[in-house]
Amino acid sequence: MAEAPQQELDPSELGTQDYWDKTYSLEIDNFKHHGDVGEVWFGEDSALRIVRWLSSRPELVNENDKIIDLGCGNGMMLVELHDEGFTNLTGVDYSQNAIDLASQVLKDKNLTDITLETFDILADDVSRFRSNFRIAHDKGTYDAISLNPDNPKEKREKYIENVKELLLPEGILIITSCNWTEEELLGHFKTDFDLIHTIPTPSFKFAGQTGNLISSMVFKKR
Ligand SMILES: C[S@@+](CC[C@H](N)C(=O)[O-])C[C@H]1O[C@@H](n2cnc3c(N)ncnc32)[C@H](O)[C@@H]1O
Repeated sequence: MAEAPQQELDPSELGTQDYWDKTYSLEIDNFKHHGDVGEVWFGEDSALRIVRWLSSRPELVNENDKIIDLGCGNGMMLVELHDEGFTNLTGVDYSQNAIDLASQVLKDKNLTDITLETFDILADDVSRFRSNFRIAHDKGTYDAISLNPDNPKEKREKYIENVKELLLPEGILIITSCNWTEEELLGHFKTDFDLIHTIPTPSFKFAGQTGNLISSMVFKKR
């Protein structure tokens, strides 16, 4: 029997750069006036779960390995990674306002050795990062890309191709999503990546069924 066509998400403004530029412009103001770093997607616990999992896997990553945070937003994941002892960190985001906010947050915390770059994972030339990173981290960015009103399937596929390109052979992608289930993420990534771990996330029970609000999965580049 033929496979059912892949379902896409309903488009949303969260899939547009305009939305993120405006959001981070407001968050820069909040940070300036109230010292508030802004939203940490899926909460601090989810970031800590990932960082702790990573630091308990010396066979996968050591503290000097290069790590990139894709769609780093306010940079707080980079702060958590740095606090856990990881030293070779890069954050990229296509919103210049996100990078401005992240650089203010990092400066405020005296973290001067983290690289930040305005970079569109889909549109900019990824070849200069070719086979560069041991770990790529994504919390909410693949979700945002999937919500783009214009050709989301093509964009998701381009994302997967580009992440594969910037990772070293057998490099690791850690991805956290609230829009896709574990099964769906596996379906999207399985051609280029092997699933090596699912980081446990809080579950809820509804109508006798247990489900997860977010999925946090670890893939190894094939
Ligand atoms: C849901 S937010 C998550 C932010 C951050 N990772 C966190 O966990 O708090 C999605 C982020 O992805 C960024 N983003 C979306 N599409 C992108 C693209 N094509 N290239 C780079 N960044 C992108 C947005 O600007 C935004 O910062």
